[in-house]
Amino acid sequence: MIRTAIIGYGRNGSTMHAGPLERYQNDFEVAAVCDIDPAAKEKAKARFSCPVYDDYHKMLEEIRPDFTVIVTRSHQHAQMAIDSLMAGSDVLVTKPWATNARDAERMIAARQVTGKKLLPWLPARFGTDLLKLREIVERGDIGRVFEIRRSVTTFGLRCDWQTESRYGGGYLLNWGPHLIDQPLQLVKSPVTRVYGNLRQIVNPGDGEDNLRVICHTGDGVTVVSEFLIAAGPYPAWVIQGDRGTILVEGDTARIFRAELPERVGAEEYRTNTVITESAEKITGQIYGDEYEIYPHIAKVLRDEEAYFVPLEEALRLSRILDAARLSSRLGQEVWL
Ligand SMILES: NC(=O)c1ccc[n+]([C@@H]2O[C@H](COP(=O)([O-])OP(=O)(O)OC[C@H]3O[C@@H](n4cnc5c(N)ncnc54)[C@H](O)[C@@H]3O)[C@@H](O)[C@H]2O)c1
Repeated sequence: MIRTAIIGYGRNGSTMHAGPLERYQNDFEVAAVCDIDPAAKEKAKARFSCPVYDDYHKMLEEIRPDFTVIVTRSHQHAQMAIDSLMAGSDVLVTKPWATNARDAERMIAARQVTGKKLLPWLPARFGTDLLKLREIVERGDIGRVFEIRRSVTTFGLRCDWQTESRYGGGYLLNWGPHLIDQPLQLVKSPVTRVYGNLRQIVNPGDGEDNLRVICHTGDGVTVVSEFLIAAGPYPAWVIQGDRGTILVEGDTARIFRAELPERVGAEEYRTNTVITESAEKITGQIYGDEYEIYPHIAKVLRDEEAYFVPLEEALRLSRILDAARLSSRLGQEVWL
């Protein structure tokens, strides 16, 4: 039994994490929940019949959990993770695991000092769209990939803490971990330079609600990640290879394959390329299914599997997010 504590029993903590912890009772026991909101504490107590706290230091000291899941506001994650590691607990920290790379490094240092496990939560790596696209790309259907565009568009506004930078709000930290990390999973070489354009269009608060981040990799792949507010639907993915294109709209991946001739003859001014089209369905959860991920976490905590997000990759992502913010301020590309 992995005696587990949850810090932050809000919208996400009480669903995405409490759900699998409740279901997998052969692996996890919810030993305590901490939240400063009395109503959240009441709900957790009624659901898990466990002690509830509003001071996480006290909870860590009294409960001594094996494993702590941190799902508070984004600016709180890094310090809470460090304190939990120092209290002798393994830690899962939701996205964004830190609001900047320096805090991410502090967490990694705490992990090294304590020897405890630190698990950054990037569930979109289990996203079914990503898995399908990886299958198509690895099959070689579109040849060598040189450009990927990942877009989310919406007219949906927010008015909560996610619009305020003092709480770690703004859509770079909120959506960046999904929209930048996912396409980079299809690319082998690391990112070398980053361009960011962060703007606030319609949301209240001071956080950006519209973002475009362009990452260039060492081997010449361009990855465009964008969250566009007040915008109608774009394809969620466009992947270009030197032999074709994949376009994802709704639950369908359309694959366009180009039958290029060997080479253009000297007498021809252009090729007569034949394009064939096919389509494949994408089913399941595109941002990852927590009920699929938690059995893996139980195995990781028992040293039976390696965690699906290596720490150096999570740190690299934090550096990209920092670079995107700096680039947007400077109005120019930033080298990593
Ligand atoms: N797919 C995903 O991975 C995903 C989805 C949604 C949210 N998130 C992340 O989860 C985090 C929480 O988002 P949310 O929408 O649930 O926010 P929320 O405001 O609903 O929940 C945060 C909770 O933390 C509690 N809290 C605040 N200070 C505390 C303290 N000092 N000690 C204990 N509890 C405290 C609040 O009372 C609240 O209940 C965010 O960082 C967000 O980015 C991840």
